[in-house]
Amino acid sequence: MRALLLLQLQALTSRVSLSSSTFVRGKSLWFDANRDNSQVRRIWSSTPVCMGRRSSKIAGRKGAQDAKKAKLYSRIGKEVVSAVKRGGPNVTSNSVLAAVLEKAKELDVPKDIVERNMKRASEKGQEAYIEKVYEVYGYGGVSMVVEVSTDKIHRSVAKIREVIKDYGGKMADSGSVTFKFKRVRVVNIKATNADKDQLLAIALDAGAEDVIDPPTYEDDTEEDRYYKIVGSSENYSSILSKLREEGIDFEPDNGSELLPNTPVEVDDEAMDLNKELMSKLLELDDVDAVYTDQK
Ligand SMILES: *[C@@H]1O[C@H](CO)[C@@H](O)[C@H](O)[C@H]1NC(C)=O
Ligand SMILES: *[C@@H]1O[C@H](CO)[C@@H](O)[C@H](O)[C@H]1NC(C)=O
Ligand SMILES: *[C@@H]1O[C@H](CO)[C@@H](O)[C@H](O)[C@H]1NC(C)=O
Repeated sequence: MRALLLLQLQALTSRVSLSSSTFVRGKSLWFDANRDNSQVRRIWSSTPVCMGRRSSKIAGRKGAQDAKKAKLYSRIGKEVVSAVKRGGPNVTSNSVLAAVLEKAKELDVPKDIVERNMKRASEKGQEAYIEKVYEVYGYGGVSMVVEVSTDKIHRSVAKIREVIKDYGGKMADSGSVTFKFKRVRVVNIKATNADKDQLLAIALDAGAEDVIDPPTYEDDTEEDRYYKIVGSSENYSSILSKLREEGIDFEPDNGSELLPNTPVEVDDEAMDLNKELMSKLLELDDVDAVYTDQK
């Protein structure tokens, strides 16, 4: 099995180097002999995002993974509140709550966050959360999708509009942006915990689509850098089990992300402004995630 994987990997690497010059910068294609070429399997193996020259201006990007975790905890907290509001606090009779608590456990959500939100759900005036998606235009032709769950929809809309206006974005009509993204499952692996070849072998073996290198910023420490294995829902659990087999740690965040179909390249100024807009949106409690097609 091991030998076969290595063979596949060697085949992959040689094909990648053969083909990379013929295709779009940043992407490499690998042709699977058993498929026709329109169904080409892509292993993406170069740095997709930013160059170091911009790093000094990017504030608040450090600890992006921590921020993501905080958002995850907050989202699970909201789900706990909603489940209790809708079906009561008894886990035996409320199967939705039971499922949320199970999920919280799987995702390593701290117990006190769950307990705090169980309590919050019974407070007067607390309502269930509803989910919304806002579509936004940023600078330089960039699009953004803002995922929100809120217990106060009017407050939420007002705050989001205010941030978008203050930071130079523009609200887009519903449906004018979302089609530019696809929902994928992503497994985040700290760059210090694995090397690229290992991850490529696992990705291939599990039928995943891409391995994305950590973006490189000058001020990054190794601790902050993550590889992403990108796959479909069907492949997700097999990616995880192969990582476990190899003893490689990954983030238990049930990675589900929107990735752009066609990343948009912008100049430095637009990039900084977009980063600022996104980070201001993410500061809102109601906002669970912001995705962009900025390269
Ligand atoms: C929770 O629900 C189960 C099943 O409906 C019931 O038997 C049990 O008494 C309930 N527990 C509490 C504390 O109400
Ligand atoms: C993980 O994400 C998927 C889809 O994004 C969702 O259907 C599923 O319930 C999530 N599972 C957990 C344990 O969070
Ligand atoms: C991965 O998922 C795709 C569907 O998205 C499926 O066709 C393929 O068989 C899966 N590969 C493996 C190895 O599970």
